[in-house]
Amino acid sequence: MSQILPHGGVLVNRIAEGAERESLLQEAKSLTPITINTWTISDLDLIGVGAFSPLTGFLNEEDYKSVVHHTRLANGLVWSIPITLAVQEETVSKLKVGERAALIGEDGVTYGVINVESIYSVDQKVEAVNVFKTDDLAHPGVQKLLERPSTYVGGSITVLNRPQPEKFQEFYFDPAETRRIFAEKGWKTVVGFQTRNPVHRAHEYIQKTAMEIVDALFLNPLVGETKSDDVPANVRMKSYLALLENYYPADRVFLGVFPAAMRYAGPREAIFHALVRKNYGCTHFIVGRDHAGVGDYYGTYEAQELLKSIPAEDLGITPLYFEHSFYCTTCGNMATTKTCPHDKSAHLTLSGTKVRGMLRDGICPPPEFSRPEVAKILIEGMTEQPVG
Ligand code: ADX
Repeated sequence: MSQILPHGGVLVNRIAEGAERESLLQEAKSLTPITINTWTISDLDLIGVGAFSPLTGFLNEEDYKSVVHHTRLANGLVWSIPITLAVQEETVSKLKVGERAALIGEDGVTYGVINVESIYSVDQKVEAVNVFKTDDLAHPGVQKLLERPSTYVGGSITVLNRPQPEKFQEFYFDPAETRRIFAEKGWKTVVGFQTRNPVHRAHEYIQKTAMEIVDALFLNPLVGETKSDDVPANVRMKSYLALLENYYPADRVFLGVFPAAMRYAGPREAIFHALVRKNYGCTHFIVGRDHAGVGDYYGTYEAQELLKSIPAEDLGITPLYFEHSFYCTTCGNMATTKTCPHDKSAHLTLSGTKVRGMLRDGICPPPEFSRPEVAKILIEGMTEQPVG
């Protein structure tokens, strides 16, 4: 059965095994070490397994500039988020273009090696304004960007050790595995769903609406670094399992995590999220209201507009766009303004802040907003959080 092609046509695999791995691990001992944090380790690993195909490493200068300014790699392929390796000045001075360097975690593990192909300094404010549409330090993605060193090292990588998840290991699948599983299940069309939140009724509504027209749903929650007031991934995972068990057909849903960091780059990140899900084997991708947004930085449908501006053949995966969904008390069901004629006063809408407050106080939001099984797990998760 022919499956959707990865972005760029080939699923990248930069994971070393056997003798190659042993010899690179040996070589790494004598290479200049570059210390990498958990965010960069996750980027490295996702490049290695092909989730970020066609990237084979951290962006070189030419690709970086092209991505920042034109949302494309230098070869013209659409790419929206610069995946870069920021390196401290004292380490940069020890690196040479043409040599290899070792990528070492703060835990001392050698996660990989990089072939140093370019070393370049960037203006991170320019990057911020282009990628995040703001250089406001209150934006969590901008804050992360501006606290990194401004010299980047580009070059292809090889992964030597994989990060080991502490929990829910059974929900980690590489793109090659999800592709194989989707094919084995005979699914020709699979819709990917990105989320950094628990799945509430609005999410469920748009997922199930999409499920009416495709073979299956790939529930693919992002579980890498998120901002501190987002619900922790471990609590979310429990809530997804409870939801799937009670409300979804087991033979038409597949749950697997996306172990990437959240950038909160709104429209640019929506493109990135779509391309990555194509690499995992999805044919469709859900984009709802304010996808990957934060605060008031992006318009409600700006992510959809940016995706619509890209020619379908350049994207490859088909976005499914959804309007803001809510429960309408007069209709007695979930709806959007496309399907509900009633006044706003009939619509149940709760802000994230309000819901968090309710959960913290041990109060279940109404079942029209969140399934009781989900709310219960979130309340338990909130009260388990250390106080302070
Ligand atoms: S995100 O940062 O991962 O995008 P979230 O988990 O809230 O945040 O959203 C997951 C997906 O559901 C996104 O495509 C988002 O646009 C969509 N979405 C979230 N809430 C709604 C809603 N009320 N109506 C329509 N789409 C929504």
